[in-house]
Amino acid sequence: MSKLIKDQIKILKPSATLAINEESKRLSKNGKKIFKFGFGQSPFPIPDSIVLELKNNAQKNTYLSMQGLEELRIAIANDLNKNNGNNFSEEDIVIGPGTKELMFLMQILFQGEILLPAPSWVSYQPQAFIAKNKVHWIQTKNSSNWFPTPEQLEDKIKSIKEKNILLFLNSPNNPSGTICEDLEGIASVAKKHKLIILSDEIYSYLTFDDKYKSISNFYPERTIVSSGLSKWCGAGGWRLGFFAIPEPLKELRDSLKILCSESFSSVSAPIQFAAIKAYRGDHSIYLKAVRKILAFVGNYAYENLKSNLVNITKPQGGFYLFPEFTNAKFASSSEMCKDILNKTGVALLPGSDFGLNSSKMIARLSYTDFDGTNFLNNTLGSNKLDNADLKKYAPNIVDGINALKEWSNSL
Ligand SMILES: Cc1ncc(COP(=O)(O)O)c(C=O)c1O
Repeated sequence: MSKLIKDQIKILKPSATLAINEESKRLSKNGKKIFKFGFGQSPFPIPDSIVLELKNNAQKNTYLSMQGLEELRIAIANDLNKNNGNNFSEEDIVIGPGTKELMFLMQILFQGEILLPAPSWVSYQPQAFIAKNKVHWIQTKNSSNWFPTPEQLEDKIKSIKEKNILLFLNSPNNPSGTICEDLEGIASVAKKHKLIILSDEIYSYLTFDDKYKSISNFYPERTIVSSGLSKWCGAGGWRLGFFAIPEPLKELRDSLKILCSESFSSVSAPIQFAAIKAYRGDHSIYLKAVRKILAFVGNYAYENLKSNLVNITKPQGGFYLFPEFTNAKFASSSEMCKDILNKTGVALLPGSDFGLNSSKMIARLSYTDFDGTNFLNNTLGSNKLDNADLKKYAPNIVDGINALKEWSNSL
C-alpha cells in the first residue's frame, strides 16, 4: 500500500464515468460506432461578440484582484438583479476558475454538515469527502421531479444533530433535467432551520420555458447563488464561474476570498474582461435559439424513449434525461451501462454516480452528441424545428435513441 497519499484521499475511487469513457475509447478504436451520451458539455459555440472581446483583451497580463475584476462583478450583480430579481452588490460577488473550484473551497472552509438530494451532481459528495464534511442524502423520487419535498427536507434536518447545515440545490438539474417546482416550500423549511443553501444555477439560462426562478428570491438572506459561463454560453473550457454571497453570509465570503488568494490567486485576466461582455451584452437571440434546439432534442429523446418499461421525467432545462429501465436486471446500474455500451454503442452514466442506490436501473443520458454550431447556424431563423431538422443536424441522437429503445425492448 502506498504511504504517499493521505487516507481520506486514498479512499476516493475513480467514478464509473471514467470506466465508461475508457470502454468507449476501446470500442471506438475497434471500429464500433459510439453515441457519446455520457458527456455533459454544451455543444454550442461561444457567441462571436464574446470571443471577439477575448481576442481584444489577450494582451491583459497582470494579476487581477482575488475577488475578481470590479467591472465584471458589477456586470454580474446587475445581471442577477435584473434576471433573478436579486439585490446583490458587486461586493457580494466572488469570481473563480469555474464554480467547481469555488464549491471546493467552500467545502474546505465550511464548519458543518452537507445535505445532498439524490440524485446530485457527481462532484458535491467527493468534495465534501476531501474536506472531511459529513454528507447526508435525501433520496428523491421522479414523482417529485427528482427534488426533495419540504416534508422530506424537514424530516432529514430533524435527524441531524449539527446546527450548521449546507444544502445543495441544483435546478435545472444535472442529472435529471428537471426543475424544482416547490422553491417556496423548500425555502420556508430552510428559513425555519436556518440552513445555508448553495443554489447551483449553472443551467438557469437553459430553462426551456425561459421563466427561471431562483430560490434566492424566497430565501435571500442565506442563499449563495452559483453560476458561470460554462453551460449557457458554451465556455466550459474558459473556466469562469462566480458565487453571489449575500451580506448576512459575509463571514463565509471573506473566508472564501482568502482561500481564493491562497490557491488560484485570480482568474485569467483576458477571460474576466471577455466575461464582462457575456454579462453586459444582449445574448437573447443566441439563448433563445439554443434553448429551442435543446428543448426540441430533449423532447424528441424523451418521447421516443419513454414507454411502460422506461420511466423518464419530461426535460425542463439543461441537457440531460434520467431514464429508468424498469425491466432491466443487472447487478448494478454500472453493469447495466456496460451492457448498453457493448450492445448498442450508447455511452450513459450510471445513476449510482449521482448518489442513487446502485440497484436502481437508472442512467444519465446527455443529449448533446451533435454539432451545435451547424445546428444553430442552420436553424437560427426558423420559428419551429421538426424531425427532418433533427435527422439532418443531430443524426446521432436519432440513431442512438433508436438503439437504446431496441435494447430496452429486447430485455
Ligand atoms: C450541476 C453542475 N454544477 C457545476 C458544474 C461545474 O461547472 P463549472 O464549469 O462552473 O466548474 C457542472 C458542470 O458539469 C454541473 O453540471
